[in-house]
Formats: sequence, structure tokens, C-alpha cells
Amino acid sequence: MKGIILAGGTGSRLRPMTSIVNKHLLPVGNYPMIHYALDKMADAGIHDILLVIGKPSAGLYVDYIGSGAPWNVRVTYKIQEEAGGIAQALGLADSFVRPGEKLLVLLGDNLFEDSLKTFVKDFEAGERGAEVFLKEVADPRRYGVPELQNGLISRIHEKPELPSSAYAVTGMYLYESDVFDIIRSVKPSARGELEITDVNNVYASQGRLGYRLLSGWWTDAGTQQSLLDAGLRLSGNGKT
Ligand code: G1P
Repeated sequence: MKGIILAGGTGSRLRPMTSIVNKHLLPVGNYPMIHYALDKMADAGIHDILLVIGKPSAGLYVDYIGSGAPWNVRVTYKIQEEAGGIAQALGLADSFVRPGEKLLVLLGDNLFEDSLKTFVKDFEAGERGAEVFLKEVADPRRYGVPELQNGLISRIHEKPELPSSAYAVTGMYLYESDVFDIIRSVKPSARGELEITDVNNVYASQGRLGYRLLSGWWTDAGTQQSLLDAGLRLSGNGKT
């Protein structure tokens, strides 16, 4: 299985720090945020990882991560010229994944406690098209929210006014390699981006979107408050 970490974006909610450094290099505990995504990939047994980054800060990523040797993984870099949505960024990984190969995708600002090892192993052995990870949250309206039906997801609603469940779809995804065909088939949303939720909803409409529940804590460290909370949880150790 291949790993893709998406670490571009403008980090507008974390300005002014993100005017000088990419969000995923900001400190969380004793490490830059990106450190934890690499830990999680390595822990899940994924050793071939593509890191999608923007042009600003690209050199800093290389300074910190290098070839991936500190994690015992191989890191390849891909530059996203302009932020065009999560699905657009993932589309850049097309040539990195062979047909028939599966992939684990992590949004670099998602920090979480659970190990993905078992989930990855099960997905590798199974025949489901895609799988997302759900976490019960106090305010699901900030996230993608799933509608659950017979052990599958029938639809995900992106940042809905009236959430159909108390779960957030977190920023970790498992896909079969046909995800790249699906990305090519989706159209930009009202905000002009290729949305990962639209990609996931293609799998949902085909009855191929499974889910797993996370039992440990999870946070999307994209805001000042959640970044601070994540730092407090992770300070003093390098492991999630
Ligand atoms: C993205 C996804 C959303 C998901 C969230 C998790 O939202 O579109 O479905 O719940 O990541 O972090 P964003 O944070 O880009 O607004």
C-alpha cells in the first residue's frame, strides 16, 4: 500500500504565522505538525510515501524530513502549484500509485491517537472501494457528516446546517486505485475546489464506502484553538 500525505494549502485560519511558514510545519508539542503524520504512516507499515506540498516552505520540508530515513520510510515530494482542494491535491498522486495498488491518504493537519495498523491491514485484505474514519464530535457542522445505512455510508454531507449524525468524517481515507478515475470525473464545487466529499460520495452511491470508528482522540489542527489543544495533548512526547 502507498501513503499520501497532503500538506499544502494556505492555512488562512492560522495567519499570521502561516504567512511565513506552511501550517504543517508549525509546532505541535515538541515537533512540527508534519512529524505526526509520518509517525502514523510508519506505524501503519507504509514505507512508500508521497508528500504533496506547496511551493512556499518546500525547502523547509526537505530540511526536516529529507529522504524519510529518520522514519525508515521513503518520501517522495510533489509540488502543488496552486491550492485547488483536497481532491485536486490527491489527483497529483496519480502516477505514484500503480493500478490495483491501494492507498492511505492523510491530511497533514489531522492529529489523532488511534493506530491505523489494523485498519490498513483489513482494507488491504478486503474488497471495499473506500473507507473513512469517523469520530463523534460536539459540533459536526464544521466537518463532513455521514449518513449511515446498513454498515455503509450512503452519503456524506459537507458542513451541513442540520447534521444527520454526531459523527465527523476525519481527514484519513483508504482508497482503491480507481480513486484517480473518480477524481477526474468530479466537478469543482461552488467554492471552485475539487472536494474530497464529492469523491467519497461517488463510492457511497456505488455502495462501496465503508467506515471505521476511531476510539482515541482526534483533532483537525487547522484553527488557533485546535492547534493549541493538540499541542497540549502532544507536548512532551513525539508519539500520538
Ligand atoms: C476537510 C473535509 C471534511 C473533513 C475535514 C477533516 O474539511 O472536506 O469533510 O471533515 O477535512 O479535517 P476542511 O478542513 O478542509 O474544511
